[in-house]
Amino acid sequence: MTSNTLADGLGTRKELPEKQSQSRSTGKPQWGSRAGFLMAAIGSAVGLGNLWRFPFQAGENGGGAFVLIYIVCVVLLGFPVLIAELAIGRHKGLSPIGSTREIAVDAGRSPNWQIAGWLGLLSRAIALPNYAMLSGQFMAYSAMGLMGDLSDPTQTPLYGGAVSSLLWFTVFLVITTGIVLRGLKRGIEAASVVLMPAFFFILAGLAAFALYSGAASEALTYLFSPRFDQLTPAIVLAALGQALFSLGVGAGLMITFGSFLSKDESIGSNATVIAGADTVVALIAGLMIFPIVFAFGMDPAAGMGLIFGTLPSFFAQMTFGNLVGGLFFFLAFIAALTSSIAILMVARTIGIQQFGLSERNATL
Ligand code: ALA
Repeated sequence: MTSNTLADGLGTRKELPEKQSQSRSTGKPQWGSRAGFLMAAIGSAVGLGNLWRFPFQAGENGGGAFVLIYIVCVVLLGFPVLIAELAIGRHKGLSPIGSTREIAVDAGRSPNWQIAGWLGLLSRAIALPNYAMLSGQFMAYSAMGLMGDLSDPTQTPLYGGAVSSLLWFTVFLVITTGIVLRGLKRGIEAASVVLMPAFFFILAGLAAFALYSGAASEALTYLFSPRFDQLTPAIVLAALGQALFSLGVGAGLMITFGSFLSKDESIGSNATVIAGADTVVALIAGLMIFPIVFAFGMDPAAGMGLIFGTLPSFFAQMTFGNLVGGLFFFLAFIAALTSSIAILMVARTIGIQQFGLSERNATL
C-alpha cells in the first residue's frame, strides 16, 4: 500500500500514513534521462557473462542450437522477469527488500516474501568481490597492453601475485565506490553515459578487427552452426541459466533500477532495449573472441582459463596486438565496472531504506 491515496470499499479516498506516502515522494531520486537509465541498466546487465561466459558456453554446447535456445529463454522467460522486476520496483519505489515485502503484504501474503530481496542482496554480495578480483586483473593487463608489453604478463612489475592482486582489487573497489558515492545522477548515470558508448565502440572495433584479421569462418561455424545432436537437458538448463544470469534478473538489480524510474516511462520498450542490447553484445563478443582463438590454434574448450593464460601472449604476437589486447582487457574492465556499480547501488539503496543509513555510510 504505497500509493499516496487509496480507494476504500465505499469509493472514498484515504490518505495513507506519511511514511508510506513518502516512498514515492518527489524527494526520492529519479533517473535524470531515459538515456541515462538505459545506459545504466544495460551496463548492469552487460558483464563478463556476455563477454566471456556466453561465447564459450555457446561454442561448447551445440553452437547455433545453444544460441537458439538461449534466445528463446531470453524472450519467453528472461524478458517477462525483467519487465516484472522493473514494474515491481517502479510500483513500490523501494529497494528489492521493501518492494517484495510490500507487494506481498498488499496481496494479503506474508511479509516474509521479502526474503527474495535478501537473497538477491546475498547473491550480489558474493558476486561483487568476484568481479572486483577479476577486474583488478583486467586493469593490470589492460595497462600492460597499452604500455606495449603483453608478451609475458607474469614478468612485468604490474603483476606480482597475491599482493598485486589485492592492490588492483582495492583500486577497483575504490573506483566503484567513488562513483556510487556521487549518487544516482552524478554517479552511476553520469558514469554509464560515458562508459557504455565507449564499451560499444571498442567492442564493435575489436570484433571487426578480429573478423578481418582472424579465422572468421571457423569462428562463425563454431559459434553459430546448429549442432542439435549435442543438445541434452543439461545444455537447455545451461542456456536458461545463462539467459537469466546475463540479463541480471533475479537479484533485485532491476527492482532497484525500476524504483528510480519515472511513471511516464514505458517499461515494455525500455525492457526490450535492455534485453536486446544484452543479447546483441553477447553475440558480438563471440565474434570478437573466436576468430582470435582459432587464428592461433587455441583450444576453445579451455574457456575462462584462456583469458589470463594463453590469450595475452597471443595478443603480443599479433600486429597491433598489444593495443588490441590492452583494449580487450579495458573492455572487460568496463563491463565489470558498470555491473559492479549497479550491485553496489542495490546495497546502498537497501542500506538507506532498511537500516536508515546516510547515503555515504550505506555506500561505504
Ligand atoms: N549480468 C551480468 C553479467 O552478465 C552479471 O555478467
